[in-house]
Amino acid sequence: MSFPKDFVWGSATASYQIEGGYENGERGRTVWDDFCDRPGTILDGSNGSVACDHYHRYKEDVQHIKDIGFGAYRLSIAWARLLPEGTGKINEDGVRFYNNLIDELLEKGITPYITLFHWDLPYELFSKGGWQNPECVEWFAEYTELVAKLYGDRVKHFFTFNEPQCFIGLAHVLGIHAPGNIMSKRSVLTMAHNVLKAHGRSVQVLRALVPGAQIGIAPTSTPACPETNSEADINAAREAYFDVPEQENYMWSVSWWSDPIFFGQYPEAGLKLFEADLPDFKDEDFKLISEPIDFYGQNIYNGYTIKAGANAAYEAVKRPLGFPRTAINWPVVPESLYWGPKFLYERYKKPIFITENGQSGTDFISLDGKIHDTDRIDFTQRYLAELERGIADGTDVKGYFAWSLIDNFEWHSGYTERFGLIHVDYQTQKRTWKDSAHWMKEFLAK
Ligand code: BGC
Repeated sequence: MSFPKDFVWGSATASYQIEGGYENGERGRTVWDDFCDRPGTILDGSNGSVACDHYHRYKEDVQHIKDIGFGAYRLSIAWARLLPEGTGKINEDGVRFYNNLIDELLEKGITPYITLFHWDLPYELFSKGGWQNPECVEWFAEYTELVAKLYGDRVKHFFTFNEPQCFIGLAHVLGIHAPGNIMSKRSVLTMAHNVLKAHGRSVQVLRALVPGAQIGIAPTSTPACPETNSEADINAAREAYFDVPEQENYMWSVSWWSDPIFFGQYPEAGLKLFEADLPDFKDEDFKLISEPIDFYGQNIYNGYTIKAGANAAYEAVKRPLGFPRTAINWPVVPESLYWGPKFLYERYKKPIFITENGQSGTDFISLDGKIHDTDRIDFTQRYLAELERGIADGTDVKGYFAWSLIDNFEWHSGYTERFGLIHVDYQTQKRTWKDSAHWMKEFLAK
């Protein structure tokens, strides 16, 4: 495979999923701690209180990043570790932890990419209304300012939010993610709007305080891929991808979350769909939301097939029986890494980072002491080949972050899913490279 010389190769994690460091009051409570305490929320009844104990083992983990050969690492900061109550009082141990982690990365020649928010909202802020409270915009600005002042001398790459489709949609439309309270459409649309405003404010703060900052956001999407290369099918897939259709998680949208950032307005299809429930949006909000950013992050795991419709603009194509799926039951759709970035780049015209891609597997340690995850190697090769094809066709993709560096707490699935290149034994915290980590090392060395 051949990628541009300056292409960024990294791996990604998120604070709540790996850090632990909570049991002895090392950080403030978050909505995820609270959610996990509710019976029946997490498949295996677990939580992230210890997780991969990365809080105490970050040096070892950074060494693994280095040994695999990644030049970049996408980590998220736990808001409640720096500000246990979300605003106000600063936790010096938390400040020190990220200082040490960042220094360790830089010493090993690894560029940190910081995600400011990967879902672990401080509980104190939730109890004040969380994203529903308009003050959340300033809470997030205060937190951003602290991060910028503490680490902006050494960190230049930032993502404001990870997958708002999840911490608003999965949390408040479906109720399966923290804080898990299902709300009215009007309240959900209000929260989504506040999150977009908080994004804009955060961009302003970073721009003002971090010279040379490169800023983006990392939403997710499930790309629509055309059944054939006919113009009609390609147009149909594009239309489906950016549509805002009636669906169970109505916040699972590309354009609702991204059009305001890049175009300063919500997409027509969504405004029509939500007509009866729209909050009162102010014109000046859109100026804030569309504060210019430098790149566009995108988490892509799978996709679906679309063809031109006989009676509608597009039609979904059913998957054949026995279609390949990963352990978490997500379909394997490598071409999603061709069509997704291509359609996004055509529409939003910003350089793209694939901020997450990877698969969950039924990984276990074999008799020979190794983890033979041939499926993950195959998955990665197929997806990367499609990404490479897209770049050759003119899509401006700057980098790829594998999800994930190590197995970790997979939200409502607890520890039942393993996404890591490195296996974690949660009884001993022993890290063991899977075959895919060895494959990645060879791939990166070429
Ligand atoms: C999230 C990660 C998650 C991964 C696999 C993304 O939705 O950003 O936190 O672990 O996908 O589900």
